[in-house]
Amino acid sequence: MSVQTIISLALLTSTLGNASDEQKLEDLMDNFSPVTAKLIVEAEAVEEVMETGELNPNHYPVRRAANAVQHYINTQYGSPFKVFMVEKVHSGYAEDINNTGRKYQLEISVQEMLGNSTHKCSAEVLFPKGDGSPEVNVSCEELETLNTTKDDEAFYEKLKTSQNMLMAQYLPDSHGHIEPDMKPLRHLGIVASSFIMLKESTEQTLYNMAQVGNVTQLATETDELKFDYFILLHDMVSQEIIRWKLQISWSPLEGVKVQQMEKMPHCHECKKTPNTD
Ligand SMILES: *[C@@H]1O[C@H](CO)[C@@H](O)[C@H](O)[C@H]1NC(C)=O
Ligand SMILES: *[C@@H]1O[C@H](CO)[C@@H](O)[C@H](O)[C@H]1NC(C)=O
Ligand SMILES: *[C@@H]1O[C@H](CO)[C@@H](O)[C@H](O)[C@H]1NC(C)=O
Ligand SMILES: *[C@@H]1O[C@H](CO)[C@@H](O)[C@H](O)[C@H]1NC(C)=O
Ligand SMILES: *[C@@H]1O[C@H](CO)[C@@H](O)[C@H](O)[C@H]1NC(C)=O
Ligand SMILES: *[C@@H]1O[C@H](CO)[C@@H](O)[C@H](O)[C@H]1NC(C)=O
Repeated sequence: MSVQTIISLALLTSTLGNASDEQKLEDLMDNFSPVTAKLIVEAEAVEEVMETGELNPNHYPVRRAANAVQHYINTQYGSPFKVFMVEKVHSGYAEDINNTGRKYQLEISVQEMLGNSTHKCSAEVLFPKGDGSPEVNVSCEELETLNTTKDDEAFYEKLKTSQNMLMAQYLPDSHGHIEPDMKPLRHLGIVASSFIMLKESTEQTLYNMAQVGNVTQLATETDELKFDYFILLHDMVSQEIIRWKLQISWSPLEGVKVQQMEKMPHCHECKKTPNTD
């Protein structure tokens, strides 16, 4: 599937008005939710002035800090049946911390997209000077008590006891279609992509998940399940598609952990040398 297809597909979904939660989840992957599309325009139009003090919660700097919180929460609490997304930013405050970076204080609401619960959170995000990953502290109402879902348990048991290792590619395909059976693997891919986006985010970046290129379940000796993921991210500042290879583990008890992650060379380079490994 070409990059062009992904982008036009994304633009198509962005034109939808009242999104259901499933649709919002589609948007989360398909890059251009209406909010995000607006952010890109803002980001491109406005020569960024790093304001301090009370900020407009709808503006790009606050949204970007809120995205870092979203990714952080996904890395801590995400699963094949739990995917979090910022629903609303209530307030944002920024200050320069000398020689350290810029710190945002946020009040946000976060929605769990599959069980459909909403949680109010207070968060602090520090974007360090230079290129380091943001540091996030967050406390949310009732997030700790959001237990493993029965769906997570059932999915885990199914995969753990199956003779065949799961494998899938192009989630979703170029028509936006995904087999219902494969949705949990895609959700897990969204959670995995949050690890990359949290690591890579700075005050200048804006990423979104584009697609799970492919995913392969690996055999394990332990209780945890293991997967190799190839994930396509959309860098909305450069408009490039960036590919990452990740190996993750997951169990309902231990949550999602990243074993390895590696940025892959650009797609056009790979197309020039197919199947040479
Ligand atoms: C969207 O939702 C709002 C309020 O829920 C409703 O007033 C409006 O008619 C809806 N628009 C469409 C296109 O369904
Ligand atoms: C931070 O730097 C500014 C300007 O250099 C200075 O006025 C302020 O006192 C410093 N604040 C702290 C906490 O060091
Ligand atoms: C999700 O919850 C919100 C309010 O908590 C409700 O308005 C909405 O209809 C729910 N959506 C689904 C798909 O259950
Ligand atoms: C997060 O909390 C720790 C411990 O309270 C604190 O040392 C750190 O500065 C906080 N980080 C941010 C970004 O607020
Ligand atoms: C989560 O599990 C704990 C302990 O098993 C239980 O006390 C709590 O009520 C559960 N919370 C929810 C929201 O089901
Ligand atoms: C997954 O995609 C990557 C990158 O296109 C490719 O190198 C790899 O062979 C694929 N793996 C499978 C199992 O198809």
